[in-house]
Amino acid sequence: MSTGLSSQVRWHEQQVTTQMRSELMRQKGACIWFTGLSGSGKSTLANALDYELHRAGKRTYLLDGDNFRHGLCRDLGMNESDRVENIRRAGEVAKLMVDAGLVVICAFISPYQRDRDRVRALFGPSQFLEVYVSTPLAQCEHRDPKGLYNKARRGLINGFTGIDSPYEIPTTAEFIVDTSVEPLQDSVRRLLGHSEQLVS
Ligand code: ADX
Repeated sequence: MSTGLSSQVRWHEQQVTTQMRSELMRQKGACIWFTGLSGSGKSTLANALDYELHRAGKRTYLLDGDNFRHGLCRDLGMNESDRVENIRRAGEVAKLMVDAGLVVICAFISPYQRDRDRVRALFGPSQFLEVYVSTPLAQCEHRDPKGLYNKARRGLINGFTGIDSPYEIPTTAEFIVDTSVEPLQDSVRRLLGHSEQLVS
């Protein structure tokens, strides 16, 4: 990855501060980051939380790995360095949105601890919540909503997370949800409580 021009470009102070934006929006910006295997339920949970926060009057935005890869990250594949770059971009976009005062909900496999740590480091401790969607591989594979596990097992996709590409179990997640045992509405209720504390 290129370091670009950042060492030669000076940061320009902006007159409207994060706090001013936050006061105008009557909420604190925050990033709620979902990580877990493909098929674990990240997108479903993230969508449901987004909906409930929106209903509660919060200004939110949802960044989802599958959608992100259609636009800003359409040039990236699934090898390790591309995944690192995917998560770096997602983290930077989330940071801008949080700075703008939004509650940003992110759903990315984000398989590497180091990359998740880097994203966390972009935020203050009261701005970031990591949610590990811990649904076991066997359950994700059984669900196989996109038929991708089946393809990976047949050797039609290489480097599939959980099959022949690693997923590093989060060590610092504030929140763990196993969608194979906890009903969606219960998880969302728990998450909503935590999230509302963060952004009020
Ligand atoms: S990440 O690893 O870079 O965080 P991201 O969340 O953006 O991944 O995208 C994951 C989505 O890409 C999965 O939901 C799945 O639909 C699709 N996908 C395609 N190839 C792979 C692969 N080799 N491993 C995992 N997911 C894949």
